[in-house]
Amino acid sequence: MKKVITYGTFDLFHEGHYNLLKRAKTLGDYLIVGVTTEYYDLQRGKLNVVDSILERIENVKRTGLADEIIVEDHEGQKQEDIQKLGVDIFTVGSDWVGIFDYLKELCQVVYLERTPEISSSILRASKYPIVQVGVVGSGRIAPRFLAEAKFVSGVNVRAVYNPHEMSAERFGKTYEVEAYYGDFKTFLEDMDAIYIASPHQTHYEYAKMAIEQGRHVLCEKPLTFTVREAQELYALAKDRGVVLMEGIKTAYCPGFIQMMNVARSGMIGEVRDVEACFSRITAAQMREMQDEKFGGAFLEFGSYTLLPIFKLLGCQYKSVEFDSILARNGIDLYTKIHFRYKDGLAMSKTGIGVKSEGQLVIAGTKGYILAESPWWLTKSFAVRYEDPTKIEHYSPKFLGDGLRYEIADFVSKINGGNRMAYCLTNEESIAMAGVVERFMKERGKVRGMVGTRNAKEY
Ligand code: CTP
Repeated sequence: MKKVITYGTFDLFHEGHYNLLKRAKTLGDYLIVGVTTEYYDLQRGKLNVVDSILERIENVKRTGLADEIIVEDHEGQKQEDIQKLGVDIFTVGSDWVGIFDYLKELCQVVYLERTPEISSSILRASKYPIVQVGVVGSGRIAPRFLAEAKFVSGVNVRAVYNPHEMSAERFGKTYEVEAYYGDFKTFLEDMDAIYIASPHQTHYEYAKMAIEQGRHVLCEKPLTFTVREAQELYALAKDRGVVLMEGIKTAYCPGFIQMMNVARSGMIGEVRDVEACFSRITAAQMREMQDEKFGGAFLEFGSYTLLPIFKLLGCQYKSVEFDSILARNGIDLYTKIHFRYKDGLAMSKTGIGVKSEGQLVIAGTKGYILAESPWWLTKSFAVRYEDPTKIEHYSPKFLGDGLRYEIADFVSKINGGNRMAYCLTNEESIAMAGVVERFMKERGKVRGMVGTRNAKEY
């Protein structure tokens, strides 16, 4: 019996898939079809797959052509399957010519002619029109957003807005963005969605105006400075039927999601303590050091450190205490926040004028998770136990600078998929605004009293 194997995502099952399977079947007597898992697709950068794995398997099954269906969930699996299942022929469409020649050591490799003018990507584009996004602000993050959006299908960054039109123009020309605006209202008219990457204190106003105009909003952290404002924005977005997402990129990274799930799985017992640290020594002339009201370490990096705390211990802490080292201009160079929960503790440390070990430690009753810097990009983490020789290492894949996962989730939510709403819930985002609000009040009280040196001296 001649065994044939083929693999694919088979998203929005179409004629091209059917033809491929039909031809594959005629190559032998027994056809095995490998369907990719969602996690594997994310890992290899195939973002915005619409159908769930169950739907995709069901569609392959319905053709009646597959004698066996398996799932593909990791790199290197093809070699394993070919050997394990005794496969004679590996086949895929002609868009892959040459790519799988390395399998010729194990079996025959056949590239079948691809059906012209149809693909899942084409169907996705016709089913969901390309989301036209405008970027608010042309500072440091904006170019990264442009670069990463190119890896996400179904989205086009069409314009940039800056109240200083000259800056918008300069940015537009440098990065070849189609349009630039100095007037926010006109800018909104031409966009489906906006990405807010302007100074912190402008987020709320821009988000509110955009939502009121029925535009989807992806807003850089921190979303707002008060709970009331955050609640208002989420309620408004719900009312207008648009997506509002806070852009804490770590929340959307596959590795971080996996780490949170491992922590919750019972492997380390009950989670009792989360310690998260993020520090980056920042030059004196930078906005973070200079902006007396909205600069400082916590407002810059606190969203990252609060994220695993709220994800694992919840948003209902019993008490919170702040401690900062301030510069003479009032900005915090280093901030420690201590949370007490009913059954646990947590610590957030952020620094721009103090350098510390940027690690995340999740302590449980049976063991702990250690994720070293840069844990917020989550390229690796380890589960450790009392026995120091027992260590389980995880090395999830992480593509680009991570923003693409957040953009993909934004686009998928706009297109009606709510499958990943667990990455960052409204409740978590609002709770973060609550900590920001209390921090601003506390910092106001100690302002000027703790500082030893002026920001310029760092
Ligand atoms: N295929 C084909 N003809 C097409 C489209 C796909 O023969 N018009 C084949 C691919 O070469 C592959 C299999 O179908 O062997 C599954 O492909 P998959 O990547 O799932 O589908 P695409 O439509 O190519 O998806 P995308 O547009 O997302 O790349």
